[in-house]
Amino acid sequence: MWEADSADLFADMGVSGQVQGSHGPGRQAPAARAVSAELTGDDIDVERSLRPQTLADYCGQERVVENLRVLIQAARARGEALDHVIFSGPPGLGKTTLAGIVANEMGAKLRTTSGPAIERTGDLAAILTNLEEGDVLFVDEIHRLNHQVEEVLYPAMEDFFLDIVIGKGPAARSIRLDVPRFTLVGATTRTGLLTGPLRDRFGISYRLDYYSVPNLAAIVQRSATILGVSLDNDAAAEIASRSRGTPRLANRLLKRVRDYAQVKAGGEITWEVAAAALSFFEIDELGLDWMDIKILEALTQTFRGRPVGLTTIASAVAEDPSTLEDVYEPYLLQQGLIVRTPQGRQATLAAFEHLGVTPPA
Ligand SMILES: Nc1ncnc2c1ncn2[C@@H]1O[C@H](COP(=O)(O)OP(=O)(O)OP(=O)(O)O)[C@@H](O)[C@H]1O
Ligand SMILES: [Mg+2]
Repeated sequence: MWEADSADLFADMGVSGQVQGSHGPGRQAPAARAVSAELTGDDIDVERSLRPQTLADYCGQERVVENLRVLIQAARARGEALDHVIFSGPPGLGKTTLAGIVANEMGAKLRTTSGPAIERTGDLAAILTNLEEGDVLFVDEIHRLNHQVEEVLYPAMEDFFLDIVIGKGPAARSIRLDVPRFTLVGATTRTGLLTGPLRDRFGISYRLDYYSVPNLAAIVQRSATILGVSLDNDAAAEIASRSRGTPRLANRLLKRVRDYAQVKAGGEITWEVAAAALSFFEIDELGLDWMDIKILEALTQTFRGRPVGLTTIASAVAEDPSTLEDVYEPYLLQQGLIVRTPQGRQATLAAFEHLGVTPPA
């Protein structure tokens, strides 16, 4: 899992700063919380073992995978570092995983940090000057880099040098440092927050989409094999269809279904066992969690289907507006449960039907 990986690397690189966790699915009702609880030490090892290491192991996102395969093969044949890459998209779709795969497939070393962890230009200079030729530097949450750090990063990305100011006042002087040819892999849940100059310096840019049910079912089957769990195809499809298009959630649901099967059904996971386990943990048929339902209830009941601004919804459900926008809204939009209008967010008829609420006349 990301926290552990990055903590190791910070120690490695002598970089200070806060390690940011990945975006959890937010507040949950008690039963649902069991499904998305914080990871324990054992879980972290399991997560690592489930993470695909090569393009061949990576299910779904076919266009991205095919593209990367060609670009990596070409760069390798020329003996060059791959061009800088940025991955964007909602949490849990495989951005960090792809960063690892890029390094692996390039035969390069992966260095990991994150936007908020690089507080000062000196931190960035320390990271960049410690890189070796061809290394992959992964910067998670790259939209959270501060302005000064970004300015120093531009020439490093483009021309592989850094201008650093040493000292203060009249004694200050600028020195130029060479940086080895490296590949920057950035990840962001918010392309909208990336500044234009930074976005322009990535030669390769991909937006990850929610996964189809068959792709998620394949991911669940692969994970079941790694975990040594026996799972039939219908059970995999059932878990997949309730995973809100997200591999991280599919793996989490699989682990909870496995627990349920172990205690209540002798370990074997058939469709009946999977369906019973998912309803035991109160996982909705669309994979909606407690907060999704709260949002839909606010839109359909409190606001009676009228368009509402993001901050108004946020205060109605006591959640942070940017979490709503990054984590919850994309999936609700994709499922056609809400729409964005110039006047605000609005529940669709499908949302009323899903909740069993009568729409206003
Ligand atoms: N294409 C895939 N095939 C198989 N497993 C995947 C795939 N993509 C992601 N996973 C699994 O889902 C988990 C979450 O993926 P990852 O950490 O890469 O997401 P992320 O996009 O970086 O999320 P965040 O924005 O929260 O950092 C991984 O641990 C991995 O096991
Ligand atoms: Mg990540």
